[in-house]
Amino acid sequence: MLPISTLLGVLGLVATGISAPSSLVSRAQTVYLAGDSTMAKATSNIQGWGVYLPYSLSLPVVNKAIGGRSARSFTVEGRFDEIVKLVQPNDIVVIEFGHNDGGSLSTDNGRTDCPGAGNETCTSNYNGQTVTVLTYPAYLVNAGRAMVAKGAKVIISSPTPNNPWEGGTFTYSPSRFTTYSKDAATKIGPSAMFVDHGTYTANIFKSLGKAKVDVMYPNDHTHTSPAGADVVAGAFVKAVLCAGGGFLNGFMKNSTASVAGACV
Ligand SMILES: *[C@@H]1O[C@H](CO)[C@@H](O)[C@H](O)[C@H]1NC(C)=O
Ligand SMILES: *[C@@H]1O[C@H](CO)[C@@H](O)[C@H](O)[C@H]1NC(C)=O
Repeated sequence: MLPISTLLGVLGLVATGISAPSSLVSRAQTVYLAGDSTMAKATSNIQGWGVYLPYSLSLPVVNKAIGGRSARSFTVEGRFDEIVKLVQPNDIVVIEFGHNDGGSLSTDNGRTDCPGAGNETCTSNYNGQTVTVLTYPAYLVNAGRAMVAKGAKVIISSPTPNNPWEGGTFTYSPSRFTTYSKDAATKIGPSAMFVDHGTYTANIFKSLGKAKVDVMYPNDHTHTSPAGADVVAGAFVKAVLCAGGGFLNGFMKNSTASVAGACV
């Protein structure tokens, strides 16, 4: 019979500070996804990449992404709070926004963030109400810290590229939301990591070439076909593997070499 301290150590319970009985009955570590339509499950000829991520992970994935949302509207609608309530210690939350966060507050659509990288605030008029709007990093830092306070790990992922071949030749330059995402992960602290999903996806799309990639954007330059979403999910997996697996280390079904793309 092992001493109880050894037994708890073997189970990894000492480090997490959880009492044994509740841990032993708790559910498997879970991955939550928070994002917009490029990640969400769709019902038409387009698809979000979150639908394909589970094939590469040995953990359950709960896709809470929803079309048309920004860091701001996901916050205001209580969707981050919902995930904060659900997470248990060592759950992993992937947060990826940016496609709906730009624009101008002069005609406020409820999604545009206050410009800036820090704690600047904007006063805006939305739906006949005067509202205070925060910056993109502030929304992500607030959400990420609330998740980390519950013991979760957070992956802040840069937004997927618009079709980098739409102009005829390949062009990709990361948007400001990539830098903001990286900074947000740093501000959240050691329980957060940044994944440059946009750059990894763009690099794979570059190697696939214009003809194949154009077909993967059937409606517009933002939303991918199911086959495109599978490639975009693979780019995320590659990026995480290239970072040594991060919080997903040990839960990825694929070797780094077996997944398309090159480490950046
Ligand atoms: C906002 O201010 C708080 C408190 O000073 C700080 O911890 C946080 O990192 C700031 N957020 C951003 C996005 O700069
Ligand atoms: C990882 O491996 C699984 C199981 O073989 C496969 O279904 C999945 O598509 C692979 N993922 C990538 C990104 O190659």
